Amino acid sequence: MFTSRIAGIGHHVPDRIVTNDDLSQLMDTSDDWITERTGIKERRFFDHTQDTVGNMGAKAAKMALERANLKTSDVEFIVFATITSDYYFPGSGVLLQRELGLEGIGAMDIKNACSGFIYATSVADQFIKTGMYKTILVVGAEIQSTALDLSDRGRSTAVIFGDGAGAIVLQRSEEKNKGVLSSHLHADGRFAEELYVKDPGSSRPHEERQADVITKTSGFKVHMNGNLVFKHAIVKFHEVILEALEANNSSINDIDLLIPHQANLRISSYIQDKLGLTDEKVYNNIMHYGNTTAASIPIAMSEAWQEGKIKEGTLLCIAAFGSGFTWASALIRF
Ligand code: ACO
Repeated sequence: MFTSRIAGIGHHVPDRIVTNDDLSQLMDTSDDWITERTGIKERRFFDHTQDTVGNMGAKAAKMALERANLKTSDVEFIVFATITSDYYFPGSGVLLQRELGLEGIGAMDIKNACSGFIYATSVADQFIKTGMYKTILVVGAEIQSTALDLSDRGRSTAVIFGDGAGAIVLQRSEEKNKGVLSSHLHADGRFAEELYVKDPGSSRPHEERQADVITKTSGFKVHMNGNLVFKHAIVKFHEVILEALEANNSSINDIDLLIPHQANLRISSYIQDKLGLTDEKVYNNIMHYGNTTAASIPIAMSEAWQEGKIKEGTLLCIAAFGSGFTWASALIRF
């Protein structure tokens, strides 16, 4: 039986920093409100002249490959998590493949929002454990700023999201009890419309799908029932972390680092308190990037690795909750 170890981690964020004060110029909000309710101080917004989901993913992937001492040509398969692919179809996996010059290898997209990166990691892990591939790129990247309503009407969602990309290289290993120990995936589609972007959805009367009609509606913008999402998130985060620990006969004290999806600092702090973890054991960078959906966890993993918080032997737990609703966790031994 093979195991899949994380050989390298990388990330890339756009250059443009948008502060809470910048958003206050566009809508009725304030640095105090955003900081108190979310912990966010700034986020990155893409530059349409240079950034795409595919090329930001490629920059993160190149960093991960370099840190893994691997060549681009070692990659055999791509799993790309995003809800904001550059085109409605095809997905961004093929665009990343093209950016990297890897014509011919398989590439797939995962559209599971904030849980997308953990779902993607789980898919790659299964391919490696069954022996199908040796080296897989797992990427999470988003450009969400274009789906935000940057006016008073959209202020409760617009202030939390940002753009960015993160990547890991998963590689076949034969070392026992290392790498992705287990992953746990869940969904409850009854809540699909509580956090969604409706358009360009397919199941509409033909006349509603005409471009001039869609652009006049708010169907292109993020709709989120923030309170309801918050209430479900704090329950499911906790459950799915305990599920991962139980599956590995581990206890909360065994975790060296928890990286929760960066949705809201209040959600992370609530989970941290409920699990009784110290500040050193929970990594947050939402202050700088906001919620970058599928990119949040790999960006945080990359920065935690840079800061020496992830090293040989570290037991890392990653967990996420988001649109779908979907939620997931994984336990990883470095
Ligand atoms: N600035 C100032 N005031 C605001 C803003 C703003 N940006 N947004 C809302 N308000 C006001 C509201 O109008 C409301 O005013 P009222 O009391 O007079 O009616 C008040 O502030 C409170 O609004 P709430 O929406 O109740 O604020 P809440 O504390 O719930 O915070 C937030 C909103 C930050 C969105 C929170 O609900 C949240 O983080 N939810 C979870 C988000 C999440 O986890 N998403 C999942 C991942 S994302 C994905 O999957 C794509």
